[in-house]
Amino acid sequence: MSPEQAGLVVDGIEVRYGGLVAVQGVSLTAPEGRITGLIGPNGAGKTTIFNALSGLVAPFAGSVALFGADIIRLSPAARAQRGLGRTFQRMELFDSLTVFDNVALGREAGLAGRNPLRHLIGRPGDRDAAQQAAQEALRLCGLDDLAGRRAGSLSTGQRRLVELARTVAGDFRILLLDEPSSGLDAAETKRFGEILRRIVTDTGAGILLVEHDMALVMEVCQYLYVIDFGRPIFEGTPSEVAGSDIVRAAYLGTEAVEVA
Ligand SMILES: Nc1ncnc2c1ncn2[C@@H]1O[C@H](COP(=O)(O)OP(=O)(O)OP(=O)(O)O)[C@@H](O)[C@H]1O
Ligand SMILES: [Mg+2]
Repeated sequence: MSPEQAGLVVDGIEVRYGGLVAVQGVSLTAPEGRITGLIGPNGAGKTTIFNALSGLVAPFAGSVALFGADIIRLSPAARAQRGLGRTFQRMELFDSLTVFDNVALGREAGLAGRNPLRHLIGRPGDRDAAQQAAQEALRLCGLDDLAGRRAGSLSTGQRRLVELARTVAGDFRILLLDEPSSGLDAAETKRFGEILRRIVTDTGAGILLVEHDMALVMEVCQYLYVIDFGRPIFEGTPSEVAGSDIVRAAYLGTEAVEVA
């Protein structure tokens, strides 16, 4: 695999908070066209890794490359402009705006980037591009019927999909999704998984998925990285992970690994 084909390549990153080594020696590859899982018990360091990848915290050591280019010193906005998008563990929608406008904002924010003037005035064509991207993202996420609804009036399941659609509208090549299905019931989670697959198939983008719902992880991911206490403990296909005693032991007493 060439560096460009490899998508997002993380090598040996370490993140410290003061004296606490939160993440150490974590390496992973998240290529386009694949759903890659990053799993581990509560507090294992998953969100910290996402923060390091998206540029919110500076790693103490290690490297992060996107399509062959070192991005470790780039701002979050510059990383986004190069194709790296993310969602946050806590939902952040604008309740008073419609679903459509919430989703279109995903694209406008990406286009405007760091230039504050462009946030205000935009460029001719930006609006059309944002509207088109929003429409396509709504279609992919099965939200066409809700486009005109205020986000504040939606159920948790619908809000999760709007959040996903907003990131999809950003036209990123690699999406980092931090527990995107939390709060969904079993039927909603199943549908959510189908939508993730559709996004990857239809857009060719890659997803790096942090998720506690093991059924969803095992269903949609082609490859998994498992961490515990900030360190890598295992990687492999879902069935290899399911069969791993190391992984089982890490999860023991925390949550069920629902795989036989
Ligand atoms: N800003 C911070 N300052 C200090 N310590 C932090 C900070 N953020 C996270 N930590 C610590 O770093 C470790 C990893 O936390 P992190 O949130 O990355 O885990 P996680 O795998 O995302 O957990 P969860 O599954 O609960 O979301 C934990 O020990 C946490 O307490
Ligand atoms: Mg987290």
